[in-house]
Amino acid sequence: MGEGTSGTGVARTAERFTAWAEGYREIWAPILLPWNVRLAEPVELSPVASVLEVGTGVGNLLGVLRQRAPRGRIVGVDYSEGMVALAPRGPGLASVAVMDAVRLGFADGSFDAVLMPFMLFLVPDPLAALREAGRVLRPGGEVAVTAWGPDAPYGPLAVWNEELDRAGAPRPQPMARTDELMDDPAKLAALLTEAGFEDPRATGEPFVLDMDVEGVIRRHTGLGLTRTRYESLAPEDRRAFLDRFRERLSALPPEELVFRDEVVLGWGRRPGRELS
Ligand SMILES: C[S@@+](CC[C@H](N)C(=O)[O-])C[C@H]1O[C@@H](n2cnc3c(N)ncnc32)[C@H](O)[C@@H]1O
Repeated sequence: MGEGTSGTGVARTAERFTAWAEGYREIWAPILLPWNVRLAEPVELSPVASVLEVGTGVGNLLGVLRQRAPRGRIVGVDYSEGMVALAPRGPGLASVAVMDAVRLGFADGSFDAVLMPFMLFLVPDPLAALREAGRVLRPGGEVAVTAWGPDAPYGPLAVWNEELDRAGAPRPQPMARTDELMDDPAKLAALLTEAGFEDPRATGEPFVLDMDVEGVIRRHTGLGLTRTRYESLAPEDRRAFLDRFRERLSALPPEELVFRDEVVLGWGRRPGRELS
């Protein structure tokens, strides 16, 4: 981890993702993967392209990028050691490293494309991270970003927190997030422009996750602040809490268990053209 960041929001985010890494790999990464493939789709990649994924998490997009650039250089970086530790590695695969998005250890102009899937809103200074992506991109290289739409209320989460309040679980410190700077296509396009990218394009697409009661429990106990808060309960109190939660959720119409959000996808190009 970088020097001088211990105790800051970035270090706390990295510690949390490290604690959630296995749940993330099992539950959340497969749900986001199709969106990450969708993000990469319009990015021009030759078979020998150099591609960097910033915030690669457990690295499940890296194999897809390798297929798109079989003779290229595929690199994944992430600030959370525990996430990177679960990324696939080996001969012929991507290389992975622990790195902060605002301080990438690569030379200027060393990549044809930089992908930043579902991570920019976790960076305290997203503009600095985008400018750093621009620095490591060659002239004409492409950046691609996904973010979430505005927070929509989710009934089961409210029930989860009500029952945890009742059980006396402390509320965890929220993560430092910057979603409001990029939670619709116009904002994301403006951020890309401000960071110096040209030809910004952005779109918003509905995200729908159909879960049953057990699916919600698996998700809430598996990762995220819902898990952190659940695990603050004494082990002997967890079963009673889950019984109450299950009972209340079973009384809701199935439609209320469906999680709905929006995914905001954006692309831009570093100005200039490579001289041939
Ligand atoms: C929601 S996960 C997304 C992981 C992966 N891109 C995916 O779509 O499955 C966010 C990731 O961003 C990483 N992250 C957060 N802040 C970061 C930073 N400043 N630099 C690099 N990675 C960061 C976290 O460690 C975490 O692995």
